[in-house]
Amino acid sequence: MEILGVDIGGSGIKGAIVDVTTGELKSDRIRIPTPQPATPDAVAQTLKQLVDQIGYKGPIGCGFPARVIKGEVLTAANIDKSWINVKVEKIFSKAVGMDVFVANDADVAGLAELSFGAVKGHKGTVLFLTLGTGIGSALFHNGHMFPNTEFGHLKFKGDSAEKYCADSAREREELKFKEWGERLNKYLEYISFLISPEIIVLGGGVSKKFEKFEEQLKVNVKVVPAKTLNLAGIIGAAMYAKSRLKK
Ligand code: BGC
Repeated sequence: MEILGVDIGGSGIKGAIVDVTTGELKSDRIRIPTPQPATPDAVAQTLKQLVDQIGYKGPIGCGFPARVIKGEVLTAANIDKSWINVKVEKIFSKAVGMDVFVANDADVAGLAELSFGAVKGHKGTVLFLTLGTGIGSALFHNGHMFPNTEFGHLKFKGDSAEKYCADSAREREELKFKEWGERLNKYLEYISFLISPEIIVLGGGVSKKFEKFEEQLKVNVKVVPAKTLNLAGIIGAAMYAKSRLKK
């Protein structure tokens, strides 16, 4: 079965057709810059442009950088505030004229890692974190997801954890990888104390540079970089749509 997976991010909207049984891409990966301001209507139109460019007809899965419950956006930490309470599935489906299923970006990327990536088939408790502008989280136990966790917003060192150790904090404060890795380690220790994961998978662009901060990660849990890297959002989005189609 092939489904279009789309990853909606702050700077780019990326999509490709995915074979949801193997996790392979079945079309080129298309990227269109996110419109600015990224209002609901503007993003819906860009999604339509992407679907037209790929020439796809069928159900679509989308990862979105916020809490999404029953097709509605509930938070807007790193996206335009006008998204709050928008029925995102409804406006996207209307714009493209096909069914669009939307879930949190980290949840869908975690789904891809658990199906095809670094923790393929892993039982027990797995925590997946994406380190980008914010910190997204996905939590699994015995292969089941506990959706919409927001561990990036745990209060930590006086503010939300993502302000302290997302990749954007490293860039904003011009931290060396060593300093940033130490911060990340403190956060991982705290979160591990709270939920006792057996393995932590780090995703987001910075996970490609894992060897630059690996040494600082002294937390007493196995930590590995994501394998599906920048495709996780696309692959996972398609898989999420498949899971919704079954219902
Ligand atoms: C949002 C999450 C999202 C993460 C990564 C956070 O600021 O609250 O919902 O998963 O950023 O995009």
